[in-house]
Amino acid sequence: MRVLVINGPNLNLLGVRRPEVYGTTTLAELEERCRAWGAALGLEVETFQSNHEGAIIDRLHQALGRADGVVLNPGALTHYSYALHDAIEAVALPVVEVHLSDLTRREEWRARSVVSPVCVATIGGHGIEGYREALELLAARR
Ligand code: DQA
Repeated sequence: MRVLVINGPNLNLLGVRRPEVYGTTTLAELEERCRAWGAALGLEVETFQSNHEGAIIDRLHQALGRADGVVLNPGALTHYSYALHDAIEAVALPVVEVHLSDLTRREEWRARSVVSPVCVATIGGHGIEGYREALELLAARR
């Protein structure tokens, strides 16, 4: 089973950006962890990060027929990208939405996710462990 882990805008700054909110793990370390967690679950994990909405949408389209599931942290696109919503709906792959922070305990505008309705699950507030939980969830759907 192949799983694509996508991180959206500003997540390339993990470890540097607001560590009190997002933790001290860097993106490279997180991606390595995802590959290791995936391997332990029998998943082949590929990773992708972009600060560009269109690049993320292109990568989702490419996943069609190549990946069996997606773990997605859309960053701030979560809150307003109907284009991302439509891309997830269009590829019809199981997508698990992940957020490092708990969006219900932050600014009001972060509480709303426009992608949640087209994701199979949403995990938030568990830090990088949320990515492991998302991989477990996808593995369990096999
Ligand atoms: C985030 C939460 C978003 O509101 C924010 O814009 C991010 C990261 C999270 O992982 O907690 O970039 O998705």
